[in-house]
Amino acid sequence: MQTTKKDLLEKFVSNLLRKKNPDEFLEQSVAGGLKKTLNAFDLIILGISAIIGAGIFVMIGSAVIGTTERVGAGPALVISIFLVALACIFPALCYAEFASMIPVSGSAYIYTYATMGEFAAWMMGWVLMLEYAIGTIAVAASWSGYLIKFFEGFPFLPDFMKNPPVWLVNDYQTAFASGENIPHILGIPICMNLPAMIIITIISIVLLKGIKESANFAKIMVLVKIIVIALFVCVGAFYVKPENWTPFCPTGIKGILMGAFAMFYAYIGFDAISTAAEETKNPQKNLPIGLIGSLVICSLIYCFVTFVLTGMIPMSQIDLKAPIAAAMSFVGQDWFAGAIAIGALAGLTSVLLVLQFGTTRILLAMARDSLLPSVMKKIHPKFQTPWVITILSTILMLIGSLFINMQVAAELAIFGTFTSFVIVCIGILILRKTEPNRERPFKVPCCPWFPIIGAVFCSGLMFVALREVKTSAFLFPLWLVIGIVIYFMYGYQNSQKQMSIKLQRTEQITEDKIITK
Ligand code: ALA
Repeated sequence: MQTTKKDLLEKFVSNLLRKKNPDEFLEQSVAGGLKKTLNAFDLIILGISAIIGAGIFVMIGSAVIGTTERVGAGPALVISIFLVALACIFPALCYAEFASMIPVSGSAYIYTYATMGEFAAWMMGWVLMLEYAIGTIAVAASWSGYLIKFFEGFPFLPDFMKNPPVWLVNDYQTAFASGENIPHILGIPICMNLPAMIIITIISIVLLKGIKESANFAKIMVLVKIIVIALFVCVGAFYVKPENWTPFCPTGIKGILMGAFAMFYAYIGFDAISTAAEETKNPQKNLPIGLIGSLVICSLIYCFVTFVLTGMIPMSQIDLKAPIAAAMSFVGQDWFAGAIAIGALAGLTSVLLVLQFGTTRILLAMARDSLLPSVMKKIHPKFQTPWVITILSTILMLIGSLFINMQVAAELAIFGTFTSFVIVCIGILILRKTEPNRERPFKVPCCPWFPIIGAVFCSGLMFVALREVKTSAFLFPLWLVIGIVIYFMYGYQNSQKQMSIKLQRTEQITEDKIITK
C-alpha cells in the first residue's frame, strides 16, 4: 500500500504529540538508581535555598526605584510581593499535585510529556534551561558583585581584590559598555567574570559528590542568610521613619505590576523542589509540604524586608547594587554592611546549588527520553549522580557567563519561569480530563479554577512585562526558535530511532516466546 502525504503528515503530528504514560516515568526512575534520602524538612530547606537570593539581596532595589527600561513600585512593592506570591501559589499547588503523582526527576518537563506530548515536553525542558541554567549565570554574577563588596570591608586586602579591573569581574557586554581598557591576546579581547566562574565550578564539584551532602551544605547556607535577614529586619526596624512610606505608590498600578515582574525573580526556584522528587522519601506527603511551606515562609520574609527597607531610607537613596547593605550604611551601621555581604554570599551560594542541581536533573530526564545523547544519562557508580551532565552543563554555563549580562539573564529566567508555570497549570487541567482515575495523593483544591487563575495570572504578568523590557523580550523568542531547530535536527530523529529499536526488540521477544512454546 502506498504511503500518502496525508499519512506522513498524520504520522509526524502523532509523533510530536506522543505522550508518555506517567507509569513509564516511574519505571524509569526505579531503574535509574538515584538514592532516596530527602525528607520534608530537607525540601523546605532546598526551597528556601533556591528562593532567597539575588532577588532580595539585589533585585529589590530596582523593583522599588525602577531601571531605564521599567518603572519601580516604591514602598508599594509589598503589594507587588503579595501579587507575586499569589501568582506563584496556584502553580505551586499544581506542581504539588503533579509531583505527588509522578515523583521523578525532571519536574515540569515530565509533567508536560505526560500531558501534551514529546514536542511540548522538549520545549518545556528548553524553557526550563532559561530558568535554571541562565538563572545560574545571573545569580553567579550577583555573587561576584557581593564578593567584591565583602572584600571592600577589609582595608588590609590588596587593591586588586577590592577594586578589580572591569575585564576580570564582568561579562563582555558589561565590560565593553564600561568604556574601560580591556586587554587583548592575539587580537582577541579578554573578559571574564572570574569569581562567577569559580563559584559555578565549586558548586558543580559539590553536586558531583552527591545530593545528601549538597543538602547538608545548603542547610548551613540557609541558616546564615536567614540570620542575616532577621538581623536586618530587627535592627532596621528601629530606624524606620513612617514618612518614608509617603508617597506609598508613586507610579500607580504600572509600578506595582513592574515591581511584581522584577520580584518574580526572587521567587524563582521553589519549583526546583519537584526536581528532587525522585530522591525524596514519601514524596506524596513531603513534596506539597516542601513546596507550599517554603513559598509561604519566603513571602513573609520578603514583606518584612521590603517594609523595613522602604521605611528606613527615602526612595531616592536606595542603592541598586547592594540595597540592603547600603541601607544599613545610610543609617550609620557600617559594621552591618559587611555582615550583610556574608549573608548575601551564603544566600546566593545556596541558590546556585539548587539551580545547578535542577539543571542536571532536567537534562537527565531529557536524556532518558532520547531527546539528548544517551551518554548524558550516565550515573556515577560511586556517587550515584549524573556526572556527564553535571560536567557538560557546567562548561556551557561557564561559557554563557562570558557573554550574558546579569539583568538580561535574570529577565530571561523570569520569562522561562512564567512559561513553565503557565504550562504546568494547563497540564493539570489536561491530566484531570485524560486520567481522571489516576491516584492523586495531593489534589489542587477548587479545580479547574485554581489552575486557570494561575495560568491567567502568570501569562498576564508576562505580557505586561514583554511590552516594557527590550533586550530580553527579543532574546526570549529567539531562544524558543533555537529550541525548535535543535529538536527537529536531533531530538525528534533520535527519539524516533530509539522508539523503532524498542519496537523491534519487543517484537523479537514476542516471536521468541511463540517459538519456545
Ligand atoms: N530566587 C532566586 C534568587 O532570588 C533565583 O536569587
